[in-house]
Amino acid sequence: MIRIESVTKRYADGTVAVDDLTLDIPDGSITVLVGPSGCGKTTTLRMINRMIEPSGGRILLDGQDLAQQPVTALRRSMGYVIQNAGLFQHRTIVDNIATVPRMLGWDRGRARERARELMDRVGLDATLAKRYPYQLSGGQQQRVGVARALAADPPVLLMDEPFSAVDPIVRKGLQAELLRIQSELGKTIVFVTHDIDEAIKLGNMIAVMRTGGHLAQYAPPDELLSAPADAFVEDFLGTDRGIRRLSFFTSAGLDVTATPIVTADADAAQIAERTLPELPYLLVTDADGKPLGWAKAEDLAPRTDAGDGASTEDGASTADLLPHGRPFVLGQDSLRDALDCAVLSPTGWAVAVDGTGKVVGVTSQETIATAIRGAHAGRATKPAEPDADAPDAADTSAAGPAQAPATDGPAPDAPDGDADAPVKAAR
Ligand SMILES: Nc1ncnc2c1ncn2[C@@H]1O[C@H](COP(=O)(O)OP(=O)(O)OP(=O)(O)O)[C@@H](O)[C@H]1O
Ligand SMILES: [Mg+2]
Repeated sequence: MIRIESVTKRYADGTVAVDDLTLDIPDGSITVLVGPSGCGKTTTLRMINRMIEPSGGRILLDGQDLAQQPVTALRRSMGYVIQNAGLFQHRTIVDNIATVPRMLGWDRGRARERARELMDRVGLDATLAKRYPYQLSGGQQQRVGVARALAADPPVLLMDEPFSAVDPIVRKGLQAELLRIQSELGKTIVFVTHDIDEAIKLGNMIAVMRTGGHLAQYAPPDELLSAPADAFVEDFLGTDRGIRRLSFFTSAGLDVTATPIVTADADAAQIAERTLPELPYLLVTDADGKPLGWAKAEDLAPRTDAGDGASTEDGASTADLLPHGRPFVLGQDSLRDALDCAVLSPTGWAVAVDGTGKVVGVTSQETIATAIRGAHAGRATKPAEPDADAPDAADTSAAGPAQAPATDGPAPDAPDGDADAPVKAAR
């Protein structure tokens, strides 16, 4: 654990960048420092690897005062990633990544082998190894920056606005990649951003700082969204707090019904049997159980024109189906995804699928609203629970978390198990 204890930083000109900051940064998870420009985020981060020395207070790493530790060894135990990656322009990608292992005395072959392994880990194609940084896109350079920071397998990773300079789509990809890597490696990551959405997406804990280097609130993201400490934090969080918080509640356990679901070739008896009194629509699936769209029961009357048999493929007039919208993956996606699906659905009902895209049921806005009330009352699964399976695991029948996966936590079917080091995955 990194303990920041009553730390103050006063620069030579008298600027107080950080003021009496106390923060416990847990091992194996992502702690985000977020706040407006100039609030002291970078200063705080740089005091952790002693690029900047505190004017008061102390920082402890696993109980040891950093001030007593040799700076070089300390820096090597902490990977550091900055905006625009800060790569060495005259070195190839593979040699950029191999920098720290080489400094640690590894021979060139072993260091390059490690570098190639890391390129794979951060999603960089091996063919880029011999290029120079200027021959890469901004997003690729940023991945190299992450790989370089991870090269010597440091327990701590310090990241200062690493994804701020890339466009929103690339940024989303980098965030997802970081969460994936973290789910495998479980580093202690201190991540600086001024973007609250990035903080909520990535952070297990979020420290909101305000100008003058004051800590406004330190809490897990769902708590921040549900109970901002004051008007500053509330304002900084922005709108739709309630809806955004739903991302932290799993859809596992949400009631779905498979009754109003038919295949395109359903006969009149099946249609009648499967029509719910409260829902004048039926969800039509293909032969594999993948959703095709919604249809009114009366529009689904089977065709009588046996003719040459060509009609059987499409069965009832699938061209007239209403779009089913983006289904949610039951047990994997959150209540926010389920609600979004229901709100966008022309019938007001959301379509739940399993990991393979097969329909497992449908659910109404009312049912989702009940689940939301249950989640708020603490009856639902808590967020950020680990899932032993890979995120693309097909078995969604287990009560998986809204955010998965983690490496070593409780079994996925332990709905209230607490992980020591919760790890998030892309939402
Ligand atoms: N070397 C320095 N000398 C004097 N003041 C400094 C120095 N470095 C930073 N500051 C000031 O300290 C305060 C905090 O700076 P810091 O870089 O930590 O902010 P930040 O939260 O990282 O901001 P940003 O989001 O813009 O990167 C600012 O007012 C800044 O002007
Ligand atoms: Mg900064």
